[in-house]
Amino acid sequence: VSDQLVVQSQSGPYTVTFKRGGLRDLDAAAGSGMHLIVDERVAALHAATLPRVLAAPSILRIAATESAKSLERFPGYVERLVANGIRRDHVIVAVGGGILQDIACFLAATLLRGLPWHFYPTTLLAQADSCIGSKSSINVGTIKNILGTFTPPTHVVIDSAVLGTLDDEAIRSGLGEMLKVHAIDGPASFDRIAADYDRIVGEPEVRAEYIYRSLEIKRRIIEADEFDRTIRRVMNYGHSFGHAIESATDFGIPHGIAVTIGMDMANYVATKLGVAPASIYERMHATLARNSAGFTGVAIPLDRLLAALSVDKKNTGRRLTLILPDRSGQIVIGQHENNEVLRAACEDYLSRRAAGGEHMTAGT
Ligand SMILES: NC(=O)c1ccc[n+]([C@@H]2O[C@H](COP(=O)([O-])OP(=O)(O)OC[C@H]3O[C@@H](n4cnc5c(N)ncnc54)[C@H](O)[C@@H]3O)[C@@H](O)[C@H]2O)c1
Ligand SMILES: [Zn+2]
Repeated sequence: VSDQLVVQSQSGPYTVTFKRGGLRDLDAAAGSGMHLIVDERVAALHAATLPRVLAAPSILRIAATESAKSLERFPGYVERLVANGIRRDHVIVAVGGGILQDIACFLAATLLRGLPWHFYPTTLLAQADSCIGSKSSINVGTIKNILGTFTPPTHVVIDSAVLGTLDDEAIRSGLGEMLKVHAIDGPASFDRIAADYDRIVGEPEVRAEYIYRSLEIKRRIIEADEFDRTIRRVMNYGHSFGHAIESATDFGIPHGIAVTIGMDMANYVATKLGVAPASIYERMHATLARNSAGFTGVAIPLDRLLAALSVDKKNTGRRLTLILPDRSGQIVIGQHENNEVLRAACEDYLSRRAAGGEHMTAGT
C-alpha cells in the first residue's frame, strides 16, 4: 500500500495523501490566506492537536447536523468569510466528515466563482468513500441533497489518528460504504473484506489498508465517469433502498448502516425478481447483518419505504432504476417494473427482518 493516490479529474489531477499526523502538519501551517471550516466536535476532541488551527484568523466551527448544510445557512457562512477577507487566491480547508465536506465544497465551488479547497476527512465514511469524487450536495429546507456541484478538492489528507475518537456506530457506518465499494469490485473482493471484517474494526493498520483499497476501487469508477452519467451510477448500490430506509425511519438509522441494510434488501429483491440466484444473497447476508446488527430494533414501515422508493430521483417514468446483483454476482444498473412482485419482495424482506433477521433465507 502506497501513501499517495492521484485522481484524474476533468479539472485536473488531485492527490490524496495518507499521513498519520497529517492534522498536526496542518496545524503547523495554519495562518493567513487559509480559511478553516472545522467540525465543532472534532475541534473539541482534537483541540490538543489543533491549537493554531483553532486560533487562526479565519475559522468557522460548525456542528455537523443536516441543517448545517442547508442553503438557508449559507448567507451566514459567506458573510463571515467575506468579513475575514477571503480572496480568490486563498484556500478553504475543511476538517470534518461528509457534512463539513459538502459545506466547504459548495462554498469553494461558488464563492468568488471558485477557489481551491483542501479536505482533511475525519470520519471513516469520508476517508474511505466521500473524500474523492467531486460531489457537493446541499439541502434546501427539507429537501435533502437537492443542490450541488462537481468540484474536486485540490488536495485530500487522510490522517488515520483522527479516527480514534469515532464511536462504534460511526465505524460501522463507514464500513457499510467500504463493503459496498468492494461488492461493486466483484464477489472475490467482497469475500476478502468480509473475511477481514473483525480486523478492520479492531486493528487500525488493517483498516488503513482497506481505506486505501476502497478509494482505489472508487477512483477507477469516477475516473471513467466523473459526472455520474453511466457506470458511476453503480456506486448507488444499496442506496435506493438505503435512502428509502432513512426516510421511512425519519433518519433513525445512520447513512452507511441504512446502505448496509439496503444492499441486503437489494440482494433479496434480486432473488425474488429472478435476476440473481439466492446464493448471492446468502453469501453476503451474514456480513451485512453483522454490520447492521445494532439497529434490528428500529422498525422500517413498509408503506413509507415503498413510497420513498417510488420517488427516487434515479427513476425514469413508471419504472424503478435499481442497482442489483446479476447472475454472476456483478452489481449492475437496471430498470424494473414497480409491480406486485417487487412490493411482495419488500414486504417479505421487512417482515422476516422484524421477526429476527438471523434465520432469514431467500427460499420461499
Ligand atoms: N458529497 C458527497 O460525495 C457525499 C458522500 C457521502 C455522504 N455525504 C454527506 O455526508 C453526510 C454524512 O457524513 P459522515 O457520515 O461522514 O459524517 P458527518 O459529517 O455527518 O459526521 C457524523 C458525526 O461524527 C462526528 N465526527 C466527525 N469526525 C469525528 C471524529 N474524528 N471523532 C468523533 N466524532 C466525529 C460529527 O461531529 C458528527 O456528529 C451526509 O450529509 C451525506 O449526505 C456526502
Ligand atoms: Zn452513501
